[in-house]
Amino acid sequence: MSLSGRIFAAMYDPMLAAIEKAGLGAHRRTLLGTAAGRVIEIGAGTGANLPFYGDAVSDLVMCEPAEPMARRLARKLVPSGRHISVVRAPAESLPFENASFDVAISTLVLCTVGDPQRALAELRRVLKPGGRLLFVEHVRAEEPRLARWQDRLNFLQKRIGQGCNCNRDTVASIAASGFTVTNIARDRLNKVPPIIRPLVVGAAMRS
Ligand SMILES: C[S@@+](CC[C@H](N)C(=O)[O-])C[C@H]1O[C@@H](n2cnc3c(N)ncnc32)[C@H](O)[C@@H]1O
Repeated sequence: MSLSGRIFAAMYDPMLAAIEKAGLGAHRRTLLGTAAGRVIEIGAGTGANLPFYGDAVSDLVMCEPAEPMARRLARKLVPSGRHISVVRAPAESLPFENASFDVAISTLVLCTVGDPQRALAELRRVLKPGGRLLFVEHVRAEEPRLARWQDRLNFLQKRIGQGCNCNRDTVASIAASGFTVTNIARDRLNKVPPIIRPLVVGAAMRS
């Protein structure tokens, strides 16, 4: 892993602390509280979602390809009533059987994966028919002026954010990947630059 990747991992929790308090944490709580059964999370990072999973989650598989992030995540695991595993796998290539999960989680990840279409195809493959994808993602702005700025400054965002893109229309990608979007709320990330403010929180069903 590159030096920048190690620094990003070390800075991640302190960087996010104010953003979590300013609303992101509340979105995580509301959304993840609805997860149940066997759950897969992609790009689990340092484990920011861990405190928000409820008792209805029986088995949690947390996938994270970056070693410095996965190491921090593993340190946060505490014995609980459910089985939790950390797997070093990218979302584009999930080492699991077809139709083996009830719910999939993506929070602030579809902005960063190298190939979102392939990642969504993998999520669809590992979800059971009727399974749900729950997501919190920052996305391309609906306002054309801000979207243009996102396009202009995306090169910078990718460098600062370890490959994070600020201009992806993630909801359209989900809808084009064999999911039916069942819930969608648009909000904003607070305490971040305008190009990464537009936020979507939602659920999509594997069709
Ligand atoms: C902005 S962080 C989000 C971490 C966490 N999901 C959260 O909500 O705080 C993006 C994460 O996606 C991971 N990532 C990067 N490329 C990925 C890929 N191809 N597949 C899955 N995760 C990836 C990064 O290592 C990083 O942990």
